[in-house]
Amino acid sequence: QSLTEIKKRGKLIVGTEPTFPPFEFVDEKNQIVGFDIDIANELAKRLGVKLEIVSLPFDSLIPALLQGKIDLAIAGMTITEERAKVVDFSKPYFEANQAIVVRKDGKFEPKKLEELVGKKVAVQLGTTGDLVVSEINGIQVVRFQKFTDAFLELQNARVDAVVLDEAPAKAYVKKFPKFVISSVIDTGETYGIAVRKGNKELLNFVNQTLDILKSSGTYNKLLQKWFE
Ligand code: ARG
Repeated sequence: QSLTEIKKRGKLIVGTEPTFPPFEFVDEKNQIVGFDIDIANELAKRLGVKLEIVSLPFDSLIPALLQGKIDLAIAGMTITEERAKVVDFSKPYFEANQAIVVRKDGKFEPKKLEELVGKKVAVQLGTTGDLVVSEINGIQVVRFQKFTDAFLELQNARVDAVVLDEAPAKAYVKKFPKFVISSVIDTGETYGIAVRKGNKELLNFVNQTLDILKSSGTYNKLLQKWFE
């Protein structure tokens, strides 16, 4: 959808998968909130339209974008070559690595991905965490649509570890002191906002807004708000 169409419609439709704190998660009031959601709000505000958040499984975000069901996907989404073949990404707005989370009983504290061989490892379907563990032979990968379910399995000792991005890993460990990050794998990822391929107008608007948020200090305020 062009900017004119979005304005005419009066709302910006953003897709996300909300089990990824502090980027997007469901709060006590049952609202989807987080760093990405605040960025989405800034985008809508600057367009003079309302924001509609559509919650989808992570691996359905790109298909939904391609089908025109959402205007943007903002979901802590790593810019990868594969994804960039089918969607366009904004400039990078966040840097990330993968983390291994285990139960804090000291029985299993893997320091490298290779130590997960022979173990059951939970990931979110279609994420870069899914990719890195699936590349290693002999890891039994258990794929979930929601990270909340992956952590439930870890809690119930039905899996040995969860692999996910470091910032959400920290957020889950903070919320559930039974878990601990046993190591961080340097994957050097960056997050981008995804738009339909060739939607230059919307992409430029997103990039300009990211620039403005950074130069005005709003971006730093949001970092402080969600990452303290
Ligand atoms: N950064 C990872 C990826 O792009 C995980 C993103 C998961 N995001 C989410 N909202 N569940 O694959």
